[in-house]
This record gives sequence, C-alpha cells and structure tokens, in this order.
Amino acid sequence: QLNDAITIIVFGASGDLAGKKTYPALFNLYSTGVLPKKVHITGYARSDLSREEYVKRITAHLKINSDSDKQKLDEFLKITDYTQGQYDQDESWKTLDKHIEELEQERDLGKGQKNRLFYMALPPSVFLPVATGLSKFVYSSEGRNRIVIEKPFGKDLESSTQLAKDLGELFKEDEIYRIDHYLGKEMVKNIMTLRFANMFLGPMWSAESIDNVQITLKEPFGTEGRGGYFDEYNIIRDVMQNHLLQVFSLVAMEKPTGRDPESIRDAKVDLLRHVKPITLEDSLLGQYVANNDKPGYKDDDTVPEDSICPTFATLVLWIENERWKKVPFILKAGKGLDNAKVEVRIQFKDTPKGSLYEGAVRNELVLRIQPGEAIYFKFNNKRPGLSQQIITTDLDLTYKDRYKDMRVPDAYEGLILDVLRSDHSNFVRDDELDAAWRIFTPLLHKIERDRIEPKPYPYGSRGPKELDAFVKKYGVVRRSDVEYQWPVQSVG
Ligand code: BG6
Repeated sequence: QLNDAITIIVFGASGDLAGKKTYPALFNLYSTGVLPKKVHITGYARSDLSREEYVKRITAHLKINSDSDKQKLDEFLKITDYTQGQYDQDESWKTLDKHIEELEQERDLGKGQKNRLFYMALPPSVFLPVATGLSKFVYSSEGRNRIVIEKPFGKDLESSTQLAKDLGELFKEDEIYRIDHYLGKEMVKNIMTLRFANMFLGPMWSAESIDNVQITLKEPFGTEGRGGYFDEYNIIRDVMQNHLLQVFSLVAMEKPTGRDPESIRDAKVDLLRHVKPITLEDSLLGQYVANNDKPGYKDDDTVPEDSICPTFATLVLWIENERWKKVPFILKAGKGLDNAKVEVRIQFKDTPKGSLYEGAVRNELVLRIQPGEAIYFKFNNKRPGLSQQIITTDLDLTYKDRYKDMRVPDAYEGLILDVLRSDHSNFVRDDELDAAWRIFTPLLHKIERDRIEPKPYPYGSRGPKELDAFVKKYGVVRRSDVEYQWPVQSVG
C-alpha cells in the first residue's frame, strides 16, 4: 500500500473513457489495497449529475462478481464524490479548490500531504483551458501536483510542439504524465525484460540475423460513432504515431544505460532520431467499404462524402544505424479488418544459399500483445521417428497456460499506479513526442495536401488487395503452404 495521502480529481468523469477505463482501474487498485489509506476521488465534469447518476456511470463497467466485491464497492463509493463545473471559468476552479480543501481537512492532511492528481479524461479541445485553470486556482502549494493527459497530443509536429510549450508554462515536465496506454500492456512492459535479461537473444537482435520486423494492430470493428474524431485523426494519428511507435521503440532501441525512467526514455528518443521520415512510396493506405450488412467508413453520417481518411495503413520505417541497417520495420494497423490482433513478428533471415538446409522455413519470433498474451518461436525440427523430414514447430509460452493463477491487470491500472509512485518510465516525454511527430508529419501533410486516395477494402477483409504484394517488396515471406499452424499441431 502506498503511504502518501492523495486527492485524485477525474476531469471528464461523466464521459466514456472515465467510465470504461479510469474508474475500473481506480476501483481495482482500491480493492487490491494499493491505494493509500488517505485517498479521495472527486469526479468533475460539466454535466449536472445526481449522486445516483454519477454512481451509475462510474460503476457501469466494474466487474462485481462476489459478495466481497460488493463490499469493496460500498467502501469505494464512500471515498468518491462528484462535483459539477465548467472548464473555462475562474469561479468553477475556485469552487473546486475550496471543495478539495474541505476534503483535505476532513482527512486531517497537514503540510506536505496535500497531494493532488489531476486526471484529464478529456477531449484535446479543453486540455489547455483546464490545465490553465488548474495551475492558477487548484494547484496545491502544500503537496505534490501531478497531471495526467491522454492522447492525442497534437496533430502534427507544429501543433504538438505548441501544446508541449503551452503545457510546459503551466506544469513542470516531471509533473506531467502523458498516457499511451499501450505502455501499460503486459506484453509491452515485457519487451525490455525479454531483450535484455536473456543473453541468448542479444546477438540475434540485429540486421545480422533479422530480415524484417512486423508490428501489427488489427481491429475487427469500424469507427462506429467516432467518425467525427476519426476523420480528423485517421489511423496513423489514432494508433500508429503513438501505440505502434512505442512498441517499435522498445523493440528497436539500444540498451538503455539504466532501468530508470530517464535512461529508458533517452534510449527511445535516441532511436527515434535515427528513423527516417516515412515516405509515400513506403506506405499503403486503405479505407474500408461496405460489405454485406456492414457499412463502409463513408456511410457514417459524421464523415464527409469525399473523405480520403485512411482507416488502414501499412508504413515502413527505416532506422539509420548500424544495428538495423536495411531492416524494414513494417507497421500495419487497420479498422474493419478480419480479426482482432496486436503482435510483433520478427522474421529471421533465410538459411544461406548452398547451405545444408537451404530453403528451410524462416524462423519467427512472435510477441502476441493481445488477445491472450503469448510468446512463440517458430523453428525447424526433425520429424520425430524414423523420418529425416524437417517440420516447422514452435516453442510456445502462452500466458494463460503457463501462468494459470495470474491476473493480468488492465493497462490503466498499472499506469495509474506508476503515476502514484511518480515513475515516468511508461509515459511519453516531451522530446520523445517531438521525435515521433518528425517521422510522421511529412507523410500526413502530403496525404492531406495532395489528397492521396486510399485503396478500398471490404469490411471484414485482411485489408486492400495490394497488401501482400506491398509487404513482399520488403522481404516478408508468408508461407501459407508450410505444414504449420499455431497453436494447434500434431506431428502425425
Ligand atoms: C485508442 C484508439 O487509442 O486505442 C482506438 O483511439 C483504438 O481507436 C484503441 O481502438 C486500441 O486500444 P486497445 O487497448 O483496445 O487495443
């Protein structure tokens, strides 16, 4: 259990993100006994909610299965309340500050204990007015202040730099926690351990052995109901410049000089600075169209009829350093696809021409981030028995089979805990954001300026029909013909 008293104020408490992610994470942290004893959670939003309505919203996504869960929920509800206010009025901020002071008095908090955590589950349009109000009127002078913000952090290099500058005038960098919730996912948090705690992987982790790396995020649903937001942001800004790039950074960065947050973030920034901006030639863009009873992207009323917004993209990143010379990193993401999957697939080089086992199936190391965390390594083995035939098989670490009683917490749970511990390792630093936008901005601007038409693909398919030929150019081998199926296989 953490010791420091704290008041957590959730802005946008009546909204979707808070109900789905923030409150369930807070509740789980509370019920597992991690939150400090002297904690209070205040929800804040513009809607005029009754206590009953507030409780309904924040509990809608909690998993309450047993009597003990019910009891924990009753206790949890005692440490939370709701207060209504505006996002741009001094009076509202003064009232909020007074309210928090009262709560601090009730808990008998002295100097140094009046810590405040401002959690912004808010759309970007109100980030700055809220941060301004907080720094002026609600900032605690007798404790530690922390502010958590959610993406999007700008739309391109320029807007992101401006946002960072504006925010930097209001809060110090070490008070700011920029959430990229992929950094809270179990398998993503495991990448560093996998790479640097295993000696055998070190020598393989470079252009010497690796042919290409594919980082994929597939979703089987469209942008239903989010067309307005999505059309402005598209798949590249929505999940690639942030979530997939974070995964990429952890896979490709050099070994940090230490395991502390700044060393890790230094290593990421250093890597990103060696990545060339993505070109249009290295991109394949797609947009889903209607298929059977499933609507196309443009069938959404909130989407302009002539929208060129990509809902799918495959982008190839090149790193200009010795380790990754000529190794393509292929980032692929899309909505309205055939299944749900997030994974890193590292494809090793072919056995050399003229060698003993020329033509053997390529080795692959796969880190499955979701659904169902798993690491598996595809390799060749002699078929057991009298045969000398080679078969492709795998070393398989599927978490649910190996770690039977382990609960994998939701990403947000770990991240909020990190904030409470003031650990910045799993949050985005301002210069990292800058380096990330440099890679994507020229392409984004070109798509918008030249109105690059995305290739159509049917809802529920693997993506545009051009996909296989496109990735093949970068050396990807898809062997649907080999006698291998993960995870079920028999040697027969
Ligand atoms: C969000 C995007 O940041 O991440 C969504 O805005 C996307 O469009 C989501 O669906 C994916 O997150 P997860 O955790 O469901 O894989």
